[in-house]
Amino acid sequence: MKEFKRTLITTALPYANGPVHIGHLAGVYVPADIYARYMRLRGREVLMIGGSDEHGVPITIKARNEGVTPQNIVDRYHTLIRDSFREFGISFDVYGRTTSETHRRTASDFFRRLYDKGEFVEKTSMQLYDEEAGQFLADRYVTGRCPHCGAEGAYGDQCEACGTSLNATDLIDPRSALTGSVPVMRETKHFYLPLDKWQKPLEKWILEEHKEWKTNVYGQCKSWLDLGLQPRAVSRDLDWGIPVPVEGADGKVLYVWFDAPIGYISNTIDLVGDDYEKWWKDPDTRMIHFIGKDNIVFHCIVFPAMLMADGSYNLPDNVPANEFLNLEDDKISTSRNWAVWLHEYLRDFPGKQDTLRYVLTANAPETKDNNFTWRDFQARNNNELVAILGNFVNRAMVLTHKYFDGTVPEAGELTDAERGLIAEIGSLKEEMTGALETFHFREALRLAMDMARAGNKYLQETEPWKVAKTDMARTATILNTALQTCANLAIAFAPFLPFMSDKLLHMLGGTDITWDMLGCFDLVPAGAHIAQPELLFEKIEDAPIEAQIQRLADNKKANELKAWKPAEVKADCAFEDFEKLDIRVGKVLECSKVKKSKKLLQFRIDDGMGGRTILSGIAQSYDDPSVLVGREVCFVANFAPRKMMGIESQGMILSAVNPDGTLTVVSPSAEVAPGASVG
Ligand code: 2FM
Ligand code: ZN
Repeated sequence: MKEFKRTLITTALPYANGPVHIGHLAGVYVPADIYARYMRLRGREVLMIGGSDEHGVPITIKARNEGVTPQNIVDRYHTLIRDSFREFGISFDVYGRTTSETHRRTASDFFRRLYDKGEFVEKTSMQLYDEEAGQFLADRYVTGRCPHCGAEGAYGDQCEACGTSLNATDLIDPRSALTGSVPVMRETKHFYLPLDKWQKPLEKWILEEHKEWKTNVYGQCKSWLDLGLQPRAVSRDLDWGIPVPVEGADGKVLYVWFDAPIGYISNTIDLVGDDYEKWWKDPDTRMIHFIGKDNIVFHCIVFPAMLMADGSYNLPDNVPANEFLNLEDDKISTSRNWAVWLHEYLRDFPGKQDTLRYVLTANAPETKDNNFTWRDFQARNNNELVAILGNFVNRAMVLTHKYFDGTVPEAGELTDAERGLIAEIGSLKEEMTGALETFHFREALRLAMDMARAGNKYLQETEPWKVAKTDMARTATILNTALQTCANLAIAFAPFLPFMSDKLLHMLGGTDITWDMLGCFDLVPAGAHIAQPELLFEKIEDAPIEAQIQRLADNKKANELKAWKPAEVKADCAFEDFEKLDIRVGKVLECSKVKKSKKLLQFRIDDGMGGRTILSGIAQSYDDPSVLVGREVCFVANFAPRKMMGIESQGMILSAVNPDGTLTVVSPSAEVAPGASVG
């Protein structure tokens, strides 16, 4: 394998049209950050590039929905996203934005170079046009049925259900997202990047030279290539974006997926100026794109074709795209507010960045879609971070204070117990290194936790609290070894849990670490003083977890209500048929649950005619049936009596069906005489 001098890490630029959520974190930013931190620990030259994607229809739609300018939207969300990433410890070297002047210049120059080289094809074609809005409909401005999987609500550029990248004109039964109207076809001219021209070079580069890519990434590329690449429009008729920098292209802007990846270059320029060429063009630099699976085609086919067309840039060496993270067994969705938003997490769980980083890595959707649940979050915090890692460090430090006043004792002769622990940590390091180098971060984290498990096992076996009664020299060796293990844990976890690692190093009295130091047992010098131990992790109680689960349940309910539509009106009914029903008002005298029945309530009704008993299947809608006593209700008085659960029911109480399926009894709007007819 080729040895590279430096690594350029790019992270998908999130659209600045909303906050980021745990799906973004698990798919892109946490793995990228782990890799960047690991590379820095290895002393490798590395840059981690991030920033906001501020053009395109996702932004203009949001602005239109809120009645504000696109600039207002991107200013607001760029700041929110940047600040929450920072607080969460995502260690970007630069976090730029695609509305910057550097980016406008870089993207325009890029387009212009390709244009001058004759790399675009100009084509007039029929496109969808909304006559009501007076606008062409591209990308998310139009929705319809996906021609591949049949899902409703596919966008004009992509179907989120099956991940296929689409052209707006491919959609079946398209509708304008602006006005809801059915679009017409109208002629317009655009610039196309002939991807078909790059079919062969892309096939050679990916299918032959990058067989080591993750199977999900390689597989998606292969199916694209097998389908045969088509020219792709790289301009749009929009008023938000970078103007197409050639004559005669008034009113046209660069397609957001043309300008966004160039944002990686612009942000590098913002950081290092002219030195950017070293990061983008020197063959000794290795570029890694961290993205989610919905971005694979753009990073493995479209952007590389743009780079090939330019001819002076490196191609990515790897694209370790992740699958999706679900939340409580349901797809994360911004529109349904089915998400855990980073800025809200930071507000609700202050100081617990590492817990979320840990859970998202332990559950990372590396090979298949995965699931985040709040119960799992709580369990992993309490049973792993607190009970394994935190517990080991705490025991080592508390015992050192107890027996040696917080001074690191000198190790004496080592026994098989120490030799076993040292060997185990050494081999775990080897395995971890292999996993980190190949983007297997879940596995690497599990191995780091195995180091803490090994530490606990060592203390359990050597029992320094017992040995201290008879042999202080041996106790010194054990606690010295335990403290060296703590320092090893601070290194092993540094890429994953940077806040914990810093705190632990601080408690041990050191700060500078490298990956090479992992596996060494002379990291904390004898005679040094260690700080009073502070807990590295706190137990998370049920109440905050239940509050989060409740918030999601409330959201689900609100969404169901929003999506609810009244049932279709039934077939016509003759008035004579209606007249056959004898509906009356009655007053509830008694109401209770029927024993052994989940559904039935038993009513005693004053019907003005001596009273009657009615059973009604609404028990699941009334936890406390006594609330109905004294209420007037409507009931059908002339149904034949019917026995249920051994009780005769003499009628039927009328109820309305709510959107969530619960039932509410129907009452008159003012008190009427029991027995009054309804009609
Ligand atoms: O899918 C998205 O959220 C895009 N904004 C990602 C862009 S990645 C890169 F090309 F900038
Ligand atoms: Zn689809």
